[in-house]
Amino acid sequence: MLAAMSQWLTLSRAAHLLGISRVALQRRIRDGELASFDGMVDATDLQRAWPQLDLDDSGSFEKTRAIREDAFARRLRERVLPTQETLAQRIFVQGQELAELQRTLTRYHALFAALRARLDQPQVPAPAELAALLDDGLARALSEPPPPRDVGALDAMLRVMSAHVTVKPSGREFFVEGSETLLKAALRAGLAPNYGCGNGNCGLCKARVVAGETRDVSPSDYRFSEAEKAQNHVLMCSCTALSSDLTLEVLEAGAPEDIPEQRVVAKVRRIDALGADVMRLHLQTPRSNRLRFLAGQRVTLGIRAGIRDGSDVHGEFSVASCPCDDRNLIFHIARNDHRAASADFSACLFDGRIRLADDVSVWGPWGTFVLENSSPRPLVFIALEDGFAPINSLIEHAIAVDAAESITLYWASAQVGGQYLPNQCRAWAEALDEFSYRALGVEELPAVVGANAALAGSDVYLAGAAQSVGPIAEALLAAGVPPAQLHVEPL
Ligand code: FES
Repeated sequence: MLAAMSQWLTLSRAAHLLGISRVALQRRIRDGELASFDGMVDATDLQRAWPQLDLDDSGSFEKTRAIREDAFARRLRERVLPTQETLAQRIFVQGQELAELQRTLTRYHALFAALRARLDQPQVPAPAELAALLDDGLARALSEPPPPRDVGALDAMLRVMSAHVTVKPSGREFFVEGSETLLKAALRAGLAPNYGCGNGNCGLCKARVVAGETRDVSPSDYRFSEAEKAQNHVLMCSCTALSSDLTLEVLEAGAPEDIPEQRVVAKVRRIDALGADVMRLHLQTPRSNRLRFLAGQRVTLGIRAGIRDGSDVHGEFSVASCPCDDRNLIFHIARNDHRAASADFSACLFDGRIRLADDVSVWGPWGTFVLENSSPRPLVFIALEDGFAPINSLIEHAIAVDAAESITLYWASAQVGGQYLPNQCRAWAEALDEFSYRALGVEELPAVVGANAALAGSDVYLAGAAQSVGPIAEALLAAGVPPAQLHVEPL
């Protein structure tokens, strides 16, 4: 009964609150630094384990600042409501008051439980003893100072700003910030829900609300049947979470075969050089026709016949971005692509025949080089040269999903400094405790992987030119990596 008075938080909400990964939190629990019960942690224990927690440290105030523009309708905000800063302050103050009330109630409850326990003893207490017990307990309940920084108040504030969604049947979770749509939030968190148009027409993003409430944030033309209405179906692309906790039944893609082949015409948004021999091509799909794919997959890119020189030019490339990156599709395209089928497209990009705002046809997705979401093993990624493109997508996805025990990246190149995005890799390693990065020469790679005994217990993802990945794959198998845990993408 006493436990029921405490404030319990799910692991994902606690991690969200602290601004750390769920894996880092789980590690503290495993190390015995924090108690958990049935997948929940006590807010008081959390405060004890992270005494330095405050608004700025947790990043939550910054997050609040960033999402406040979306939190309320502009007209209401400007004409009726106080400023967002004022509202945020008030919510925080109310959260503090609420948390203090909860703490006081907990202390009174403990006092009554102690009295009750004393009364249950065979020897009836004398009135003086009871009075002393009561006075002592009351003095303690009233004198205990509030903690300097309050997890309860922070949580109350975050509950207003971000809703927690649990997905059935997978059990996965994500947070909805401000009034973003359920679809956008789910994709950002690395989920692969079923969807199509992204703007309320096709009905493919239907989900059933099992618990909690949603509200529409954009109009939709899709008409639900009476049965669907009765079963609380909503469109994930058109509504957001109203309650701070929401449970949805969602159709998710679990494997590449669950995703249909699609054709989309995207616009060139940016082209920039990543070193002398690799170009980054940034495409953006239309709002109403996004490309659905899994991290690590390939697509075919084509420029239409007659665009400049009257010929059709195609090439197959790995998407380097993650599906969580909204409408953006990023590709790392090497000069003199060794694959005959892709060489022409690569040449068009390098000699300037593909330009900003051009239309590029995208069709796919292809391939099975995707993360095994259900695997609890550490993740090891090995990229050879521009094999980094699909690896980049997988890493972004793994970070979004926040389920990997640890992530190790080896990026090998035949040229010194051939790792064309070193700062990004270093930034991952600096920002994430569980991430390590090593740049090395191609010739060093077999010895390095051969000497790493931990690889046998990891899921290993290897990508690079077809003729280069073979020997590395053999070295990995010889090092004890089980074939089922080795995923190879020959480009
Ligand atoms: S994706 Fe088409 S209605 Fe939501």
